[in-house]
This record gives sequence, structure tokens and C-alpha cells, in this order.
Amino acid sequence: MKLVALLLLPFAVALASTVPFKGCHQKVKENIHGPPSGWYKHAPAQKHYILELKIALPQPKFPELEQHLWEISDPSHARYGAYLSKQETEALMTPYPETLDVVGEWLALHGLTEEDVIRSSARDWVTIRVPVGLAEEMLDTTYHVYKHAETGESIVRTTSYSLPDILHHHVDFIQPTTMFARFKAFKSTMHWANQAQPVVSSPPGGTITGPAGNPVDASCNYTITLSCLRQLYNAERYKTTATNCNKLGITGFIGQYANNKDLQQFYQDQNPSAYGSKYTLVSINGGKDNQSYDAAGDEADLDTQFGFGLTWPTPGTFYTTGGEPPYIPDLLTPNNTNEPYTYWLEHVLSQDDIPQTISTSYGDDEQTVPYTYAIRVCAGMAALGARGVSLLFSSGDNGVGDSNSNPATQICKSNDGRNVTQFLPTFPASCPYVTSVGGTVNIPETAASFSSGGFSNYFARPAYQEAAVSVYLAMLAPGTYEGLYNPHFLTWQHNQNTSPPFRGQRSPAGGTSCAAPTFAAFVSMLNDARINAQKTPLGFLNPFLYSTGYTALNDITDGNNPGCGTLGFNATVGWDPVTGYGTPNFEKLKELVLAMP
Ligand SMILES: *[C@@H]1O[C@H](CO)[C@@H](O)[C@H](O)[C@H]1NC(C)=O
Ligand SMILES: *[C@@H]1O[C@H](CO)[C@@H](O)[C@H](O)[C@H]1NC(C)=O
Ligand SMILES: *[C@@H]1O[C@H](CO)[C@@H](O)[C@H](O)[C@H]1NC(C)=O
Ligand SMILES: *[C@@H]1O[C@H](CO)[C@@H](O)[C@H](O)[C@H]1NC(C)=O
Ligand SMILES: *[C@@H]1O[C@H](CO)[C@@H](O)[C@H](O)[C@H]1NC(C)=O
Repeated sequence: MKLVALLLLPFAVALASTVPFKGCHQKVKENIHGPPSGWYKHAPAQKHYILELKIALPQPKFPELEQHLWEISDPSHARYGAYLSKQETEALMTPYPETLDVVGEWLALHGLTEEDVIRSSARDWVTIRVPVGLAEEMLDTTYHVYKHAETGESIVRTTSYSLPDILHHHVDFIQPTTMFARFKAFKSTMHWANQAQPVVSSPPGGTITGPAGNPVDASCNYTITLSCLRQLYNAERYKTTATNCNKLGITGFIGQYANNKDLQQFYQDQNPSAYGSKYTLVSINGGKDNQSYDAAGDEADLDTQFGFGLTWPTPGTFYTTGGEPPYIPDLLTPNNTNEPYTYWLEHVLSQDDIPQTISTSYGDDEQTVPYTYAIRVCAGMAALGARGVSLLFSSGDNGVGDSNSNPATQICKSNDGRNVTQFLPTFPASCPYVTSVGGTVNIPETAASFSSGGFSNYFARPAYQEAAVSVYLAMLAPGTYEGLYNPHFLTWQHNQNTSPPFRGQRSPAGGTSCAAPTFAAFVSMLNDARINAQKTPLGFLNPFLYSTGYTALNDITDGNNPGCGTLGFNATVGWDPVTGYGTPNFEKLKELVLAMP
């Protein structure tokens, strides 16, 4: 009896690993109606080209994680500030054990053993490196090289893939497959030519009245400096001191890294006490840090200069995340995944200590990001919120239009096969667990015309925003933009001319956006104040901003964000989709957050 059982065992094991997939036909898991606008099919992908596939396993306990997030981010809730630990968060992100088994068996069927698999800390992501030929077999698809008409970038993608029936509820998605997003840096330099003030060589002296009612150097209406930002947003007197605990993080993607000489030159000009100080560099997935002037990233330079410059001596962390284009089809360039957020999230979530405030100035049209991927990345942002991190994202640079930088050639068409005209929101700014930051110009402040802001087509309007958005929508004339947008979203602001050092020179035409790192800097300063008062950091900000925080913001009531052949949305009294609730009054915010538990 015993002998028979033993003899049968290998057979039983073999059965267990093949039977679930036998006769179980492949069913389409995801497909898109051709590549998004701008991309065209170039040639079949080479079979031996290595793809790094990321398999997202379902997180069945996510609703519980989200419930924690709402409670611990709501200043009026008893659990405000009771952030979760890494272990607690991971327990709420981990898949069912059955999922791990079934997916493991499927991988084994294709010759992949546990040694070939990289797992995330919460075991919710499986990463494998396989040749295109094998990926095509596993996913019953054909990969092609797609080229971008405007930029010439190439990527290896497909428009449809399949999985065995039984795997469908054990896998959320596999990428890179149908994901064409480019995650561009949201710099606004191009737009300044027609919107900003001319850069004047001798700005006027004297003072003008700033948004908080205090006097501000008149030159700040022409050129923004760290001193101007502190004056405008009423933070002139505040000095950060919680340097053994508080941190500010700034992300860099798609080959953007900061040039340290530019940073030191900026410090020398604008905050001499910071001169000589360094930030911590964290490299993720082979992220580079090329210090040649020619390699400096304009966005990364700007973000570090304004973010770290405003908050010094708060320790800064700069994340350089690899996996960027361009993929050169004729060279066997590995690691061209072009979907860097998952790498960044996996790394950050695996850390015990995470900067309390993190700024990101990258994104793309929401519709170029597959729905399933957007939902999953956004869930990762929720997990960071549950850990007590405030995430700030640029809202984008294209008004309500698509990411085509020239408004005249904006297409504003849906890529879901219907080809209908619609406003195109940006992702990750549209994720309801992050705070999206837009731009203003001039004093008094006016919404920057290129500032993106509007309503997500993927994410339902979150409860914290319900009242504010309803009031705004009720003010729109009936039928306004009907069908162009899907009511939801949030923004904050600031944007002005600057002339920061870039590649060793002050950029003479000077205009740029620095809204996200600037707002992040003020949030980091608020965290500094709370930490000094033995309080928890602010964590996910929106429930606070929408319940009481807005009373300490300067309402912006002028301007609009044109796009798609329309004038876009108007800034109004109170909340609006262009400027949200407005720009910060630091002293007032500080009073509010110090009065909170
Ligand atoms: C590719 O990614 C692996 C980790 O996934 C990393 O070790 C390697 O350095 C990367 N290679 C390049 C060329 O970036
Ligand atoms: C750094 O960038 C420069 C300029 O783009 C380039 O010539 C050089 O090869 C790069 N160095 C490395 C190590 O990638
Ligand atoms: C969508 O419509 C625009 C014009 O309205 C047209 O130029 C474009 O080719 C159409 N795209 C598709 C995929 O049908
Ligand atoms: C700031 O500049 C704008 C644009 O030129 C101008 O309209 C505005 O009056 C200026 N503000 C002040 C307070 O002078
Ligand atoms: C924005 O304001 C202008 C000028 O008052 C008005 O004509 C337009 O209808 C408004 N647009 C929206 C979307 O409310």
C-alpha cells in the first residue's frame, strides 16, 4: 500500500502541475484597439529579445487597506495618524496562497522555476525575464516593435494577450504587453513663450501685495526665487529643524537625474547656507546618475533645486529609477520596460523608512495607461498613504487636452475604439490617493493656461471630494462639455518664471514649472513642524485639504486651461478643476496642522 502510494506520488505531482491548464483554452486577458495615437507598428519583435515581464497578482485585501487609509488620513477620525507598518501594509497587499500556487504551476509548465522568479516584498508582483519567443507562447500573442511618430522612440508591445482560463482570476495583468505610456517629465518650459512675462534684466524694485496680504518683492512677478516662494506663501520665518527624522523625496524617471554642480550653483545663488550639502541618491532598477553636464535632466535639476533648496537642512532623497527608453530595435537593449512606476513602488514599499513627503513631476495621458495597470499603481500609492507618506504629483502641462505639446495639433480622441472627442486627464495625477499639483502665473495669481486638471475617466470621484466638485459642477451651464469629461479630480498650484542653473548656465529664457516640488517642500515643512511637536506626519493629504485645509489656501479665481479646441475649465471662487482650492498660506496651514491631533 505504502509502496504504491510512493510510486504514485511523482505521477500525482505531475498531474497537479499540468491538469489545471490542460484543455483549458487561452482566453483573451486584455486587448486594446490598436496603439494609442502617435504610435505605429514598425516590425515584428526579435524572438530572442529579453522582456522583463511583471505579473500583478490580485490583492484581495485591498478594500481593507483602503478603509485603513481613509480612517488614518481623516483628521476628525479617532485613528488619525495611526499609520501602518511595512508588515501590516504588506499583509493587506499579499495574494491568496492559492494564487501563488496556481501561478507557480503555470510558470513551471513553461520551464520557469522559483530561481527564475523575483518576488516583491508583499509577494503581489512576480517578475520574470524571458525571451520574446517564450513570452509569445505563454501569452498566446505576437510582440511587435512600435515606433512613436513624433519622438522616434521604439518599444516592444502587443495589443492583445491571452491566459489560460483558470489563471484569469489569479492574475490582474502582465506588462509590458498593452502599455504604451511614456511617463514624460512635466516641465512647462515650452509654454512660457506665449504665457509668461518676458524675462527682464532689471526687474522693478519695491514691493507688491502677495496672496497672503503681505508685501512681496515686486521682482517676484517676473522671476521666481526661493525667497519669492517663501514670501508669496507666507513661510519667510520658518526654519526646518527636525533633521534627524523628517525627509523629502524627489523622484526621477526616464533618464532624468540632477546635476550636482547645477544644484550647488543654485544653492550659492539662492540659499548659501545649503551650499556644500548633499542629498541621498537611491538607484532603482539600474537607474543612472551621470554627472556629465550634457546628461543633466532639466526636470530633475529643477525639482531638486526648488524642493531641497526650500527645505534645507531637511535631508533629501533623490530616486533615480531605470527601465527607460529608448529601446533601439537593432541592439539587444535589455530592461526597456518603460513602465517604471511599478519598480519604484516595489522598492519604496519594501523599505522600513520612507520619506514622509515625495514629489513626482512625471505622467502621461491616462488613456495610454491600461486601466488595470493604473488601478494597480494607484493601489500602490494608497499603500504608501497608509504608511503615512504624502504624495504630490504634477497635474500635467496640457490644459484639458492630450499630451501633444502643440495645442493646435491636439487630437483629444479616445483610443477605446470609439474615437470620440474627449478631454484627456493625466495619470498618476488622476489617482484619488495622491495630491495633484497644478500651476499659476503672475501676482495676483492666475491659473496657468497649460495647467492640466479635470476629471478622471478611470477613477470614481472619491468621497472627500464630493461636496466640492458638486458645487463646481452645479455652477456650469447645463450641457457644458457634455461627454468631454467624466466628473472627478483635484489640483493645487504655483508656477512662474525662474532662471535656475541648468547644465552650468542660467537658462536665459527661464520659464519653468516647479509646482509639485514647491508644494511638496511646504508639506515637508509642515511635517517638520508636526514632528517637532511630537505629532505624526500628515500622510495622505486630501481628506485634510478638503475638510479643513482649504481654509488656509489662497483661492485662485482667475484663468482657465484651454485644450481640445475649448477654453477648458474656469478658475472660480472656491474649488475648481484648474486650481483646486488654491495655493498655500504656510503660517495658516501650520497653525491648522499643529491644532490637529
Ligand atoms: C537590468 O535590470 C537588472 C535588474 O532587473 C539590473 O541588475 C541590471 O543592471 C539592468 N541592466 C541595465 C543595462 O540597466
Ligand atoms: C554620461 O553622459 C555623457 C553625455 O551624454 C556621455 O557622453 C557619457 O558616455 C555618459 N557616461 C556614462 C557612464 O553613461
Ligand atoms: C479618429 O478621428 C480622427 C478625426 O476625427 C481621424 O483623423 C482619425 O484617423 C480617427 N482615428 C481612428 C483610429 O479611427
Ligand atoms: C504682475 O504682472 C502681470 C502681467 O504683466 C500684471 O498684469 C500685474 O498687474 C502684475 N502685478 C502687479 C501687482 O504689479
Ligand atoms: C468661463 O468663463 C467665461 C467668461 O466668463 C464664460 O464665457 C465661459 O462660459 C466659462 N466657461 C465655463 C466652462 O464655465
